[in-house]
Order: sequence, then structure tokens, then C-alpha cells
Amino acid sequence: MIEVINLSKSFIDKNSTIEALKNINLKVEKGDIYGIIGLSGAGKSTLIRCINRLEEPTSGSVVIDGQDIMKLKDEHMLKVRRRIGMIFQSFNLLSRRDCSKNIAFPLEVSGCHKNDIDKRVDELLALVGLEDKKHSYPSQLSGGQKQRVAIARALASNADILLCDEATSALDPSTTKSILALLKEINARLGITVILITHQMEVIKEICNKVAVISEGEIVEQGATFELFSKPSHPVTKRFIGDKSLEGTWVYHAKDKSSRLYKLTFLQESAHQPVISQLIKTTGVEVNIIAGHISNVQGKSYGNLVIELSGASETLENALQYLIEKNLYVEELVEDERVV
Ligand SMILES: Nc1ncnc2c1ncn2[C@@H]1O[C@H](COP(=O)(O)OP(=O)(O)OP(=O)(O)O)[C@@H](O)[C@H]1O
Ligand SMILES: [Mg+2]
Repeated sequence: MIEVINLSKSFIDKNSTIEALKNINLKVEKGDIYGIIGLSGAGKSTLIRCINRLEEPTSGSVVIDGQDIMKLKDEHMLKVRRRIGMIFQSFNLLSRRDCSKNIAFPLEVSGCHKNDIDKRVDELLALVGLEDKKHSYPSQLSGGQKQRVAIARALASNADILLCDEATSALDPSTTKSILALLKEINARLGITVILITHQMEVIKEICNKVAVISEGEIVEQGATFELFSKPSHPVTKRFIGDKSLEGTWVYHAKDKSSRLYKLTFLQESAHQPVISQLIKTTGVEVNIIAGHISNVQGKSYGNLVIELSGASETLENALQYLIEKNLYVEELVEDERVV
């Protein structure tokens, strides 16, 4: 397990101080694919670099399997760092080395025997599906193939944690999917814990079981992926997820201010009940359905419906109460707070 505890990082830049990370707390369990999403400059790279101490935090700690790595001196830290592979958006391969030599590099540095290196390199090439590119140079590879080499290199020293800094941001959508599938396979087959930072919600949706949203150096929301998608609470999270059912809503609603707008989220059993017709019968409220959309996240679905309610204020209150009692997730949409 990786625990990030009260971690802060400031950069002193000439006369000013940049607080890149403010009191970050995260718990990543073994076997998680943990996504961290944020806009450019939010502090994602700084955070991931603090996890393996490529960057020294200003305060706080990172505890891996009960060991506070901030307290480790050089050679012990080196040992821990071998457990932590890292891949980047720009691949960072050595251009003068072919695939096999790129993958072999960390093994050479740690003084492995040549025969062991050769065997391990072949295993890794097979793992990432690049047996036929063993002697190709980085310039002869596509972006997706380069990232596969980088993944093999990151895992060479039997790493059990893989840190990914925007690993798919330079790739087209279908190559992105294939790299994400590889990460998922590595996670499932080898039990490798993956921490992945991205600015693309699609990446999170595809493979992460947990997610944290970072904004201006702070974690503003975190949880299981489906929960976060179906019930986002922070405006930054909402903006990342977007909601197709809201796209036309504001244009429509600009005219009538006396009614109230609600966004309903239907999960599991609530999706099978005639909630809206019952709402009208029970409370007498006027309902106007404005938009609706069903989303699927990792095989689980949730529905959103935007409705406009009108009636006397007591009727409106009763209607709201009714919806809440039906276990729907209800949000009033207020134009001043709109995020779409
Ligand atoms: N070495 C540094 N010296 C000074 N400021 C830095 C340094 N590294 C990062 N920062 C600042 O810290 C903040 C967070 O940067 P960081 O690179 O972690 O963001 P990011 O979320 O990875 O962004 P991007 O999505 O663009 O990669 C930014 O304001 C950045 O300018
Ligand atoms: Mg970055």
C-alpha cells in the first residue's frame, strides 16, 4: 500500500513561492489502478515525482508498505526506487540503443549478469508484444511501440509499482486504448499497482478503479471511479466528466425563472421505477422533461434526466422530497453555478 500523508511541495522561484502541492492525502492499495486527474499546472507531475522522491516534498511523507521513504538514505532509497517504474508522455528512450538495449539499461546499471539480462529482456519483449522489434531503434518505432518499450524498461527490475505521467497523451485514440489495455493486463496478471496521471477523463473511465481530482495543488474529490462519475460533487470534477444532458439545458432555461431545474441521477433499482409518473400523481407538480442521457462506466450504467418543475412553492418542496425519498441523486441546477 502507498500512503501519501499531508504532503506539500513549494517551489521558490526568484522572489515568489509556488505552492504546487497543498496537504495531499492519498491511499493507494496494492493492485489498484489509481487515476489522478487535473488540468495543466494542477500539480500532477509534481505529485507523482514526490511519490518516488524524484522531487523532495517540502513536508509530509510517502509511506510504502509501512515504510516512510522520506527517512531512507541513498542506498535504501535506491532499493525502493527499483520497485517503482515510471513512464512518461515523451517515452524518454535512449536513441542510440535498440529496443533490447533500452530495456536492458536498468538491469545493466544494477549490475545484473549478461545471461540473466538477455533472458529478462526476452520475457519483457513478449510481455509488451514486441518480440519482432528487438533490434529496432526508437526512431523506427511508432509512438505506441515506443511506449511499450518504455513500459518494459520500467518493469525490468521487477517493479511492483508503475507510475505513469500522461503516458497516453501523445497517442491517438486507438493506440491509447491498446496501451491502456496493456497496463490493465500487467496490473491483472502481475499484480502491479499503477498510479496514473492524466488530464483525460476517458483514460480514467477506461481503466482506473479509483480516482482523485487535483486542482491548484489540492485534492478536491476522490473515490471509486463509478461513484465519482455518477455523483460528482466538485465543479472541477463535473467539468471533467461533462454531461451531455446539460448541453442544451441552459439555452432552453434562460427564459423562465419561476420554475426550478433539477438534474436527477438514476442508479440501479431506481432506473426501473416509474418515478416521474408517480411524482406527478403524488404531488401534482408540473413536470417538463428537458434532456436525458445514459452513461456507461466500466460496465455499469447510470442515467441523468434534467426536468423542470413548476407549481406552488409547497408543491415544489413536496416534489423535491418525493424524489429524494425515491433514492434518486437530486441536484438543483442553478445557472450561476453551471459548469457546462
Ligand atoms: N521545478 C519547478 N520550479 C518551479 N515551479 C515548478 C517546478 N515544477 C513545477 N512547478 C510549478 O508547479 C505547478 C505544478 O506543476 P506540475 O508540472 O506538477 O503540473 P501538471 O499538473 O503536471 O501540469 P501538466 O498537465 O501541464 O503537465 C505549476 O505551477 C508549475 O509551474
Ligand atoms: Mg505534468
